[in-house]
Amino acid sequence: MLPASTARHLADRLRAAGYAFDPVSERLGTAGLEGLARNATIPAARALAGAGDPQATLIRAFALQQDVPAAALAAALGDLEPLEPILRPGDGPDTLRAAIEIRPYAFSDTAGEHDGWLASDLTPTLDGRIGPVRDDFVLGLSPASVTLAQLTMPAPVGTALDLGCGGGVQAMHLATHAAEVVATDLNPRACAMTALTAALNALDVDIRQGSLYEPVEADSFDLIVSNPPYVMSPPDASRLVYREGSFTADGLVRAVVTGAPARLRPGGALQVLGNWAITADQPWQERLAGWIDPTGCDALVLQRELLDPYEYIELWLTDAGLVGTDEYRSRYAEWVDYFDSLGIVGVGLGWLTLYRNDADQPVLRFDDWPHRTHPGIGDAFAAFPDAARAARLPDADLLAATLTLDGAVASESLGRPGAEDPEHIVYRRPAGFGRAVEVDTALAAVTGACDGELPLGLLIDAVADLLDSDEAALRGDLLPRLRPLIEDGFLHLVAR
Ligand SMILES: C[S@@+](CC[C@H](N)C(=O)[O-])C[C@H]1O[C@@H](n2cnc3c(N)ncnc32)[C@H](O)[C@@H]1O
Repeated sequence: MLPASTARHLADRLRAAGYAFDPVSERLGTAGLEGLARNATIPAARALAGAGDPQATLIRAFALQQDVPAAALAAALGDLEPLEPILRPGDGPDTLRAAIEIRPYAFSDTAGEHDGWLASDLTPTLDGRIGPVRDDFVLGLSPASVTLAQLTMPAPVGTALDLGCGGGVQAMHLATHAAEVVATDLNPRACAMTALTAALNALDVDIRQGSLYEPVEADSFDLIVSNPPYVMSPPDASRLVYREGSFTADGLVRAVVTGAPARLRPGGALQVLGNWAITADQPWQERLAGWIDPTGCDALVLQRELLDPYEYIELWLTDAGLVGTDEYRSRYAEWVDYFDSLGIVGVGLGWLTLYRNDADQPVLRFDDWPHRTHPGIGDAFAAFPDAARAARLPDADLLAATLTLDGAVASESLGRPGAEDPEHIVYRRPAGFGRAVEVDTALAAVTGACDGELPLGLLIDAVADLLDSDEAALRGDLLPRLRPLIEDGFLHLVAR
């Protein structure tokens, strides 16, 4: 799209003109920014109040998709000739407009604050515009991109892969904690866009074009992340490469999952967003276990949403800009027939994480988890395999172990005002997955005493004494209820 040296020069000019995340946010204000997040440009345009300084010119051109005077753009960016591939003539005389979007982008993580730009195709739905987009459209920042970036386990790694890189947002995040980043995409325009994002941010990303794992056949990774084209649409409809693969139903997500273990280093992980088909004859958990079990990896799969076929079809017809067009009804009907022919009665939307732990007995967990998640979710994914294994210790080992109550756990009591005892005590962990669990008096007493000093067995016996209960019976009652608390991070095993 642009040679790397030109892109770096462009980044210098963007920064010098104040076209960076903080100064642009300050200029546009909350209403302007929130408007843009809703794809409405008017609040931001009003914040600029007709100004023509370099920062305003760049905001108009690269964020609001407005025509700007060529002379003003040259004043902001210098010689425009090398930038011709990313500019187009405007409607008026001596005006230009941006051919792509360059969005100031900032995020913070355990490695610190990061600030830069993301390149992508122009957002097609600004100001309520509708209409089809080009088949090889390169997606900019989407809610799904942000979700995957938040889920990604943040620990430093040697090598990481962004499969289906689009404009390079995941590669940009990975570059903060991976020594080497490879980014792949089937769409050559996406590869070029990721190259531009990487060059603007002076990131070293190895970009390779090709389908799925083909470009990395000979490589292995500590971390693979993918926000793949998971939309399950009929084969004859015109497909958008950024959201639909050429596979039947959820075949592409399945291929990402089943192909991962061969490209993961020992201890490595795959994190992928997906849509999966729900069929009448099989629970979704069993169907997905059929993909994961043979890999021998541990897995944590969270189904965040379950849509009926109609909701699903309407969602993606709207996303494709087909609402209000002549095609809408025929595409809708065709899609329903397609789902019927495959026996699809619903669609699950969620997150799959695979851990290559080479364990004798892999742990597979499938949850319906529609609840709000919290910062630190990447850490929660990272903690899962060890916690799940600790939760499966034999009874004797668990009773001999010492545990601590997680620092983030809060206790909520519910009951009638003035009543002597609460009707419900709920432990809530407002971190990571945001798990919550109801505990009774005995479980609350034992967990509350878990300070890493006394073995669990002694604590249970002491509580049995206090409650006048039989010690063996209380151990038998509490152990199965303590195990999920360990797996979900309410309790941690103290290493000895
Ligand atoms: C939903 S976009 C994700 C873009 C970006 N990674 C993000 O998180 O926003 C999916 C990307 O996968 C690419 N893609 C489609 N089919 C593919 C395939 N078979 N192999 C690799 N990439 C593919 C598309 O071109 C698109 O860029």
